[in-house]
Amino acid sequence: MKYEFGAEKPERFRQYWPGQYDFFSYMEYACGIPQVLFAITTRKADGKPNINFHSWSCFQGDKGGFYAILAGLCQHTHTYENIKRDGEFCVNFLSKRYYDALLQTVEHNEPDVDEFTVGGFAEEAAKTVSVPRIGESFLTLECKCGRLEDLSGAGLTAMAIGRVTHMAMAEDYAKGFDDQKYSENGFFYLIHTPKDLETGEGNHMGIATLCPEIKE
Ligand SMILES: Cc1cc2nc3c(=O)[nH]c(=O)nc-3n(C[C@H](O)[C@H](O)[C@H](O)COP(=O)(O)O)c2cc1C
Repeated sequence: MKYEFGAEKPERFRQYWPGQYDFFSYMEYACGIPQVLFAITTRKADGKPNINFHSWSCFQGDKGGFYAILAGLCQHTHTYENIKRDGEFCVNFLSKRYYDALLQTVEHNEPDVDEFTVGGFAEEAAKTVSVPRIGESFLTLECKCGRLEDLSGAGLTAMAIGRVTHMAMAEDYAKGFDDQKYSENGFFYLIHTPKDLETGEGNHMGIATLCPEIKE
């Protein structure tokens, strides 16, 4: 037996907070697909550094370049405004040990706040963009944004496509499989409140790290 759903949200998917199914499709909760977590850095209009704890993205390219595709960036965020204005951002991958510090940047998101200070992060100069990198990141992608498109046409989320112009990887993460990337100190993932498809209930978010198997 398989649970089958169409584009319309089934009645039984109860809303736990106002706007839950505006900013996220019910299918995101129904599918429960894990996505890598990271922090987007930009600069506010007054030059202060800004941090946005984020997921909902993929990283892809070909001979023509490597791209950070931020597929679901909320249009009401400072990050959206900053990228629209300056056309630049950095994607900073941190380990799960920084989860609480990253949440501090969500809770203290006022326009006049220096979010590096709020999260206790060190500013690191980027090589190809004028937005700062997070010094504690094990991997940072410096990006120039060429495309910013409304994702669904509803004016709620946007897809920002950034061409990666430079990357920086910490030494302990630079040995292919034999390093920290896929350990407890490496990439971590968002499990975004998966629902019981029978009842439509479920209000627990989770994070996960990887347990890789090397194949020949
Ligand atoms: C794990 C996680 C939890 C988040 N929690 C919230 C939240 O409670 N409220 C919210 O508006 N955004 C939340 N966000 C989304 C963005 O991080 C948040 O909107 C961001 O702080 C906006 O920053 P900006 O306006 O500086 O771009 C969360 C993101 C992640 C990855």
